[in-house]
Amino acid sequence: MLAPFIPTPEEVIKEMLSCANAGRNDILIDLGSGDGRILKIAKMYFHVKLVIGVELNKVLCKESKSEDVEIICGDLLSLSEVLIPRATIITIYLSPRSNKLLEDIILKIGKSGLKIISHDFEFSKLSLEKIKKIKAMGLLGLTEHTIYCYKL
Ligand SMILES: C[S@@+](CC[C@H](N)C(=O)[O-])C[C@H]1O[C@@H](n2cnc3c(N)ncnc32)[C@H](O)[C@@H]1O
Repeated sequence: MLAPFIPTPEEVIKEMLSCANAGRNDILIDLGSGDGRILKIAKMYFHVKLVIGVELNKVLCKESKSEDVEIICGDLLSLSEVLIPRATIITIYLSPRSNKLLEDIILKIGKSGLKIISHDFEFSKLSLEKIKKIKAMGLLGLTEHTIYCYKL
């Protein structure tokens, strides 16, 4: 497992999706989708065309399934080679180690213009467009969240 389930607060998700300028033509993939909240907000408020989550935890995977979101139960590392080339936006909230593992794959197979939005953890080689900081109430109380917005 690359990271435990810590949900991203709703206002942070909205900032992440605004940073990606998410909209009707996008295909969004959340790598480690937890309870599916990023996908549901992307659909409901940003009208993203297709949202896909990959989640290893079987309970979360089952619970997050709904009519308008696609959830794949499995290991994002083994599925990323198939999924990343389809995406226009990738959202990630994992760990520094996971970002390191994913970075070269994203650079190799992500399509030009792909937006990668990472909650709290940086990538070292991707081209950074914007950083946003936002205070929000989450599992750990009122804390500052950093959003890193990258583009290929
Ligand atoms: C920090 S949570 C983020 C959840 C959600 N993306 C959000 O921002 O609210 C990380 C999620 O990644 C999942 N995860 C960890 N390792 C994984 C792996 N190898 N493949 C798929 N999901 C994984 C965990 O089960 C957890 O739900």
